Amino acid sequence: MGRIFFTAAFRKPREINWVVGVLMLVLASVTGFTGYSLPNDALSGTGLRIATSVAMSIPFIGGWAADFLNGGSYPGPLLFGRLYTLHVYFLPVTIGILLSLHLGLLVYQKHTQFVPDATRVVGRRFWPDYALRTLCALAATVAILLALGSFIEINPIELYGPYQDWTVPNPAVPDWYAGWLEGALRLGPAVEWRIFGHPIPAVFWPGVVLPLLAFALVITWPWIDKRITREDRRHDVLVPASAAPWRVGVGTALISAGVVLTLAASDDQQARAMHVPVEALVTLYRALFPFGSIAAGLIAAELARELRSRYDRYGTENERVVAFVRNAGGGFDEEEPKSA
Ligand code: HEM
Repeated sequence: MGRIFFTAAFRKPREINWVVGVLMLVLASVTGFTGYSLPNDALSGTGLRIATSVAMSIPFIGGWAADFLNGGSYPGPLLFGRLYTLHVYFLPVTIGILLSLHLGLLVYQKHTQFVPDATRVVGRRFWPDYALRTLCALAATVAILLALGSFIEINPIELYGPYQDWTVPNPAVPDWYAGWLEGALRLGPAVEWRIFGHPIPAVFWPGVVLPLLAFALVITWPWIDKRITREDRRHDVLVPASAAPWRVGVGTALISAGVVLTLAASDDQQARAMHVPVEALVTLYRALFPFGSIAAGLIAAELARELRSRYDRYGTENERVVAFVRNAGGGFDEEEPKSA
């Protein structure tokens, strides 16, 4: 997704493939969460309880949604049957269908390229080049997973023990891809507003509204980008990230916001390790989330602007780039600047 975003490979006609990609990313995370919850150990059980509480905070339908998932109050009799069916059947099948659509669109639309010639599709053959490359990527991924499974202690549920309502393991953090959600809950304001007299629990804003806003922003990004650039033509040629410093700024700010929230997910452990009050870290991360992210975005945009002005690869836009041509005498003459 990062590669696609910063080179603007999501532009027309690939907006739908971007949407399909985002959906696969979300479903992969849900598949991870449902799988991680199946052992019902003390850590994942705590995660499920937090997820159920967040679901219950949704105004008017929250209680019903949580009941539906559990078949009663948490942990309900139907919960693990539902998680299991989602994890081993519905989610993988849905991802499989989306992936087929994704690759089908790719074959139909052809791949973008850096070669600045939209009249020709330039790239490598699927066989043997691409096929062998993807097989190597598969082999490398399997090797890393085997090494992790063999030598690294991951999710030692035998140490956590079974889930019990009255215990919470400490430290308790979710899997890395859910860290930003946990961080948002920890930084969220402890306020309970009322809408039409109906109390809205504090976790609703960081637990439901923030992820929904983030999802809406990311999935509609190709159309937001089109509004900002006022460009609606077909794009098959990629741009170096530095060609659009503002996009680099936005992307960097969003990634920084995600990193700050993920860091906030283990504020208690950091506080203990650094011997500082956890409240101080909460205040720090609450400030870094908006201001640190914006600052990171502005710095990245400025660096991209500087890069663009320094290296104008195609010698078209930047009047500060000069060229010298070798002359017959072996010397160099400065080339006349190209008229715009
Ligand atoms: C299960 C995860 C995914 C798989 C297996 C997958 C697979 C692929 C493959 C093999 C390509 C062609 C080669 C390449 O550009 O890398 C591709 C292109 C593309 N993918 Fe994905 N992808 C996944 C997730 C995503 C995500 C999360 C996004 C964006 C949010 C995305 C958006 C795109 C787009 C727009 C293209 C066309 C790129 C171009 O023509 O330059 N994909 N995908």
